[in-house]
Amino acid sequence: MPTLTWLTRKTDLKLSQGAPYRLLGTIPELSYGDPESGNMLIQGDNLDGLKALLPYYAGQVKCIYIDPPYNTKSAFEHYDDNLEHTKWLSTIYPRLELLRELLSEEGSIWVSIDDNEGHYLKVIMDEVFGRKNFIANVIWQKRTSRENRAAIGTSHDHILLYGRNDSVQWKEHRNLLPGNEAGYANPDNDQRGVWRSIPFSAQGYRKNQMYDIVTPTGKTLSPPKGRCWGATEPEYLNLLTDNKIYFPKNGDGRPRIKQFPENQKGLVPMTLWAASEVGDTEDSKKEILELFKEHDPFGTPKPESLIQRIIHIATNPGDLVLDSFLGSGTTCAVAHKMGRRYIGIEMGEHAVTHCAPRLRQVIDAEQGGISKSVDWQGGGGFRFYRLGDAVFDDAGKINSNIRFATLAAHIWFCETGTPLTGEANSPFLGIYKDIAYYLLFNGILGDKRPAGGNVLTSGVLRDLHSYAGEKVIYGETSRLTTERMRLEQITFKQIPYDIKAR
Ligand SMILES: C[S@@+](CC[C@H](N)C(=O)[O-])C[C@H]1O[C@@H](n2cnc3c(N)ncnc32)[C@H](O)[C@@H]1O
Repeated sequence: MPTLTWLTRKTDLKLSQGAPYRLLGTIPELSYGDPESGNMLIQGDNLDGLKALLPYYAGQVKCIYIDPPYNTKSAFEHYDDNLEHTKWLSTIYPRLELLRELLSEEGSIWVSIDDNEGHYLKVIMDEVFGRKNFIANVIWQKRTSRENRAAIGTSHDHILLYGRNDSVQWKEHRNLLPGNEAGYANPDNDQRGVWRSIPFSAQGYRKNQMYDIVTPTGKTLSPPKGRCWGATEPEYLNLLTDNKIYFPKNGDGRPRIKQFPENQKGLVPMTLWAASEVGDTEDSKKEILELFKEHDPFGTPKPESLIQRIIHIATNPGDLVLDSFLGSGTTCAVAHKMGRRYIGIEMGEHAVTHCAPRLRQVIDAEQGGISKSVDWQGGGGFRFYRLGDAVFDDAGKINSNIRFATLAAHIWFCETGTPLTGEANSPFLGIYKDIAYYLLFNGILGDKRPAGGNVLTSGVLRDLHSYAGEKVIYGETSRLTTERMRLEQITFKQIPYDIKAR
């Protein structure tokens, strides 16, 4: 397959693999609302941020939306959008590789871009996600006013859409857009509201659908030539009783079946998204001004309804959404209001000055953007994280700065997929799904036993919180025999080799 080449391509292809696994540390004073919501706002470079997420979220993200700097050669107030072309390619390539690993089998990635880098991005995404997994290039009408100084005014952005798998498979999981009511009416004042009708007949011959129907004017009708009625006679009689059959020509015409809008499956999304449907940059500016009245507003936000449409098509409530170029936090705010779980990564200081305050407002029932359309009433929460030390040093050893509580939280999360809520001040970390977890590290037993109690011996085992069921114990080494471990239902995991984040 043809690929794009650039000066540093060879080294850039190794960047994602070489990025260190760093620990994520919570910052309670910047977190807000329900701490157990699972929503994460991470401040840091997304290369390290995405790598840190891999042990926890690989293969689990249903929808990734990113809006990376377009390389427009502008210096925006909150970030610089002026990279040398090669440097832009070198930045995006490894991040896309990590994003691919996080996508679930039903997942999709949507990338906003303009013509500065868009066509190069398409070639790179073909390589990273597979050309066969390209689904669409959505054209978003971002501007409706005329750009008088330009040779040809730009009124659109691209949104490149790829699936983890091909479009045939992805189609099974994507949602349709809500149907509109154009073409519906209510000529008979039906209590159920507006409706439209289609002929109550189907092509072909089906014996039990070949009966006579008497119209309200008393005319007896058989199915049209080459067709049968749309249902069997008992089903037809039920529909008639339910007032779902309509006879045009004042009751003299052929029967038709009523369709109400909610019976429609919805509309297949198209590639052209008009500003009148999903908002434009004027709308997003108004939204951001409303949110940050006395504060310097973020320069390049996306409208909430644009992101709402993407999240609607690609996910269902409870699914995980990720944005690793979070900007002012639009994706997380919209995902929150739509009942999706989310992870946002932003390296700028605006993670603190814009994203966190915006999400706090959302939790407190802010009513801008899509709030009214989804009847947003507030609630939920998020945790704020920063990237900490690398877990392993260059020789593969655990970094000496890693403290017991940090490693305990990391191991607990790797094993259970849930955050450690206890104090982490003893080797017993807790019980999850009937398995007890222990960590012997950093001399947590604080005594004169081998390696300060980091070695599993009979004595150490006696002192551990007793639990009759299955146990997973992490430590430097074990001096128990295999038989003893079997009897005690112990799975021993050796530090650092068995820690997932290596
Ligand atoms: C175009 S803005 C995103 C705007 C966003 N969609 C919104 O609605 O507010 C791009 C953002 O990506 C951030 N960014 C650029 N490189 C990054 C990196 N390596 N890691 C994390 N964030 C990065 C910039 O700081 C900037 O805030």
